[in-house]
Amino acid sequence: ATNLTFTMIKPDAVEGGHTGAIIKLIEEAGFRIVAIKKTQLTPERAGQFYAVHRERPFYNDLRTYMSSGAIVPMILEKENAVADFRKLIGATNPAQAEEGTIRKLYAKSMQENAVHGSDSDENAEIEASFFFATTDRY
Ligand code: CMP
Repeated sequence: ATNLTFTMIKPDAVEGGHTGAIIKLIEEAGFRIVAIKKTQLTPERAGQFYAVHRERPFYNDLRTYMSSGAIVPMILEKENAVADFRKLIGATNPAQAEEGTIRKLYAKSMQENAVHGSDSDENAEIEASFFFATTDRY
């Protein structure tokens, strides 16, 4: 069935001028943009977004990085959206990402990995709601 996923283009990719190229890959892969904006997280809000990782050694760096510049959060719609989008972005570690994936093309490192992609339908809705009201979805 058609469903939703959530993504954000991260500070390294926005700063690097890759927003347009990444959106083009996403649309060419058959995703429809339901909601989009450009914004910046405070370290506190970045910490909230990634609260599941708060015990991880990289949590503090992740908060600093994710609040270091503008991001472009989006809600995307497609059949099998969560799984297909994770295929499109490739592995978290760009060194292990497949050719042609967004991370292979644009990620700089394990942390500065260009894009986020939700890992379940449930998290997609939680993450989408973190940035967008129901009335901002078209
Ligand atoms: P993302 O898919 O958005 O989910 C959690 C993020 O934490 C991940 O992308 C990376 O930006 C970062 N991350 C995950 N694992 C590591 C790691 N081992 N070292 C540094 N950053 C990481």
